Amino acid sequence: MCQGPLRASTLLLPLIFLSFAVSFAQAPLPQTDTKALGLSWDKAYLDDKPAFNIEPNSFLVETVRSLKAARALDVGMGQGRNALFLAERGWDVTGFDVSEVAVAQASEQARKRGLRVNGLIQSSDEFDWGKNRWDLIVITYFPQLRQSVQKIVESLTPGGVVLVEAFHKDAALDRPPGPGPSVSFETNELLTMFASLRIVQYQDVRARADWGLFETRLVRLVAQKP
Ligand SMILES: C[S@@+](CC[C@H](N)C(=O)[O-])C[C@H]1O[C@@H](n2cnc3c(N)ncnc32)[C@H](O)[C@@H]1O
Repeated sequence: MCQGPLRASTLLLPLIFLSFAVSFAQAPLPQTDTKALGLSWDKAYLDDKPAFNIEPNSFLVETVRSLKAARALDVGMGQGRNALFLAERGWDVTGFDVSEVAVAQASEQARKRGLRVNGLIQSSDEFDWGKNRWDLIVITYFPQLRQSVQKIVESLTPGGVVLVEAFHKDAALDRPPGPGPSVSFETNELLTMFASLRIVQYQDVRARADWGLFETRLVRLVAQKP
């Protein structure tokens, strides 16, 4: 279904992470754009030397120690490093991503490791988030977070938890011109975005970024739906 011209910023998104160019992808994507966006991310996942951490996110690993395994959603799951980790620990995991290559790699890993992950090739606009559905929503380095907040909050179960890791906007100082505004946040911005939830943990720390693999300023949040 062709609904409009493909925006250049859409095609550039993966490059933002890998070459740190600037981008502004904000509006919902028509389906054709979703396909093109997925194709552009595919390249990152076909690279022999990935510029990202292939291990599960360390903040997630730490956080789930205190959580009971239930239904989890991995948003923009990539190769499924976090989804597979959760499935291994008994979570019932669904993940979605626009990159067909990434979702195929996640499914293949799940098969090899004897795990079950429900991986879907969909954008955050296409995915049916549902209401009161997920006990844990994982969002690491996801470019459409600002646009997805309402869906995240609505789709969490009461007592459910959202976990976020992203760049602080000052990451641009460590590696100019920076990872781009869609994955970079102002001081305390995540707190404002999730103000309707109970903030369980907020970190503004220097640590090694999972995407780009350089030490920089990261923001991390765990928040629970009342
Ligand atoms: C920086 S990667 C992070 C992947 C994974 N969360 C991780 O931390 O390893 C961003 C991912 O989001 C996906 N993505 C970008 N925009 C998306 C959208 N609107 N809907 C779904 N996935 C999207 C990309 O294909 C890519 O796999």
